[in-house]
Amino acid sequence: MSAPIRDESAERDDLPLLRGERLRLRGFRSDDLGDYYALHADPAVMRYWSFPAWTQRSQAEDYLARAIAARCNQSMLCWAIALRDSDRLIGAATLFDIHREQGRAELGYALQSAHWGRGYAQEALSLVMEHAYDRLGLRRLEADIDPRNQASCRLVERLGFRREGVLRERWQVAGECQDSAIYGLLAREWQARGD
Ligand SMILES: CC(C)(COP(=O)(O)OP(=O)(O)OC[C@H]1O[C@@H](n2cnc3c(N)ncnc32)[C@H](O)[C@@H]1OP(=O)(O)O)[C@@H](O)C(=O)NCCC(=O)NCCS
Repeated sequence: MSAPIRDESAERDDLPLLRGERLRLRGFRSDDLGDYYALHADPAVMRYWSFPAWTQRSQAEDYLARAIAARCNQSMLCWAIALRDSDRLIGAATLFDIHREQGRAELGYALQSAHWGRGYAQEALSLVMEHAYDRLGLRRLEADIDPRNQASCRLVERLGFRREGVLRERWQVAGECQDSAIYGLLAREWQARGD
């Protein structure tokens, strides 16, 4: 009997499960709908997001269906951030605009506000960054943050990102213009952490 053919492209494209001390980052599921809606319907979570807070569950249905379909492709990896014990979704982390030939990608993330202040975002992003640098071999990660979003700026700065510049009035959300602080971290800086 011949050996089964390994479908390497499927293996490469499969969204990896990332395990942390308190969290697991996994693919989205249809039963995440209520928690996914709650995340994006919270005005505190959406204050500096690129679109306004959701007001209808149907918005969550559309986005979740797309997040499940696009959870893993050449230019994007979408993880649900779930508590390790209950496996309930408490947030989302995305590696998007992945340019493999250029060795760079952008990070997106949000946590339900009830879970802020416990280091969960730091744990989740560390797992995604480890995957991006060590498994995908990317050289540079970026984050685009409204400079007023102090929790997000603190988070990436704690992870070693540098603020590289500010792009003025880059976003317009619900009639309000928002600046972008562009943060970057290179693989060699990440690998040298703790030296
Ligand atoms: C950005 C966001 C994810 C940050 O969440 P956060 O809870 O502040 O970040 P962390 O999970 O890393 O927690 C860090 C805080 O927890 C505290 N903490 C408590 N226990 C901790 C632990 N075991 N490990 C690390 N930090 C811990 C830290 O001291 C820190 O507090 P501080 O910010 O007051 O100094 C959150 O504010 C959010 O979802 N915002 C809305 C969405 C958004 O704006 N996303 C970014 C768009 S660019």
